Amino acid sequence: MKIIGTGAAHPTCSVTNEMLEKFLDTSDEWITERTGIKERCVISSEKLEDMAVAAANKALEDAGMTAADIDYIICSNVVNEYVTPALSCIIQGKIGATCPTVDINAACAGFIFAMDIAEDKLQCKKAKNILIVCAEEPSRMVSWQNRSTCVLFGDGAGAAVVTAGDELKAIRLTTSSLTDVLYYQRKLEPTPYISKDENFEPLVMRGREVFKHAVTSSCRDIRKLLNETGIDANDIKYYVLHQANRRIIDSIRNFLGVEEEKVPHNVERYGNISSAALPALLDELNRGGKLHKGDKLVFSAFGAGFTTGACIIEWAK
Ligand code: COA
Repeated sequence: MKIIGTGAAHPTCSVTNEMLEKFLDTSDEWITERTGIKERCVISSEKLEDMAVAAANKALEDAGMTAADIDYIICSNVVNEYVTPALSCIIQGKIGATCPTVDINAACAGFIFAMDIAEDKLQCKKAKNILIVCAEEPSRMVSWQNRSTCVLFGDGAGAAVVTAGDELKAIRLTTSSLTDVLYYQRKLEPTPYISKDENFEPLVMRGREVFKHAVTSSCRDIRKLLNETGIDANDIKYYVLHQANRRIIDSIRNFLGVEEEKVPHNVERYGNISSAALPALLDELNRGGKLHKGDKLVFSAFGAGFTTGACIIEWAK
């Protein structure tokens, strides 16, 4: 597999820490120190599907393709306005594709899980060109009265077009059922027969536990991939890490002993946009002219579940 196009789209409403101070018992100082986040873009008038489509179209254009060239679409999404149809069905229609599509939910690690599925499809020649779209609106899962969670998230979409190649050097996925540190239950319709207790609440997160799992699992995954491939850590151009919190990113970097300039970040501008974070950051690097053919990149992400995904790719463009 190789990545041949990237795209991203963010909502227009940017919410700064100072804006949050107006209705939450919080401060720019606390949020900046504990998370590194200064602002986040959240959905207001847009629909998530429109951002997904914008990111997808940019990725297609970057790949020099049209929707007609795509023969499979994978959409990574945790929540959007629709339970059904899947977001990928909506994206397919709006970009004018006709191929089969599927939605996956591997939380914030979704981009790597989607790449893994894409790799399998390409390997067994079931598809030639695959569009991956990660579109997320975690701002709609949190209580905006809860200062511990709502300050952390933003919304957005990132996309990539992948095709056959041998630039994916290694990939590693893990799931460990740890469902009580980070979860959000959707409220379902009542029926005359429901007799069990149901307690729906906005996103629940045990921040410190998530922090520890994130750092240990990401370091573990990256070390295993480097060992497995025999690639020297110094030969990695960029470590593209999940953008959840600047302190998590810095901790991973410190444990791995990696120089600061090798670990790009944009969490300060967008907050945690779940699975869209990796492709959106990759798109920034790509469009900023930071990537060159042959550059080795590490991707690593973690999310609710607890899921983790990491891979090493060589930049192909
Ligand atoms: N503003 C001011 N105070 C806040 C606050 C905010 N936005 N959010 C929490 N606090 C308070 C808490 O209420 C607590 O107060 P108390 O001691 O009086 O009870 C205090 O700050 C410390 O809270 P704690 O949760 O221990 O802080 P922390 O240093 O662990 O930082 C997180 C909290 C959420 C920033 C941090 O744990 C984290 O980033 N975790 C990972 C979250 C994540 O990445 N999730 C997504 C994974 S995909």
